[in-house]
Amino acid sequence: MAEVTLDLRGQPKAEAYAELEQHVEAVLEGIRDEVAAMATMSCLLHHAFGHLWTGFYRVVEPGRLLRVGPYQGTLGCLEIAFGKGVCGTAAAEGRTVVVEDVHAFPGHITCDGRSASEIVVPVFGPQRELIAVLDIDSEHKATFDEVDRRALEKLLGWFSRRA
Ligand code: SME
Repeated sequence: MAEVTLDLRGQPKAEAYAELEQHVEAVLEGIRDEVAAMATMSCLLHHAFGHLWTGFYRVVEPGRLLRVGPYQGTLGCLEIAFGKGVCGTAAAEGRTVVVEDVHAFPGHITCDGRSASEIVVPVFGPQRELIAVLDIDSEHKATFDEVDRRALEKLLGWFSRRA
């Protein structure tokens, strides 16, 4: 099982996330490397749900700058300042931001014009320091809700438990 990329579309979201979380934990067993984990999570989340863009922006200057990390999808912007766009807002505020309609979010950064909604979740390390954000974009409006927020925050707990 652990080597398969699952397609979980069509399953109730909460069940899909539960299965995905088990799968991620199994694939990453014995791995502590955070880039390997970001790449694995991007791949599995992207293909499980058929998202438009799924990936990480890493904190390269704390409080100031994010730089793109492992992702799946079309070309992402390379750098985002804290406070800019959805990613920079989530990073600056250290909280998950759910955007039902990206066109209604002031300062949204467009990397792929097909993006219609998104969720950005902060990633914390073992000392509760912000190490990255996970950004997921959808072609459809209002794709993400509380179920996604809770499940993704739980999944990303991997990075704080890793030490
Ligand atoms: N939409 C994001 C930028 C990153 S990309 O969409 C890959 C934002 O506003 O932060």
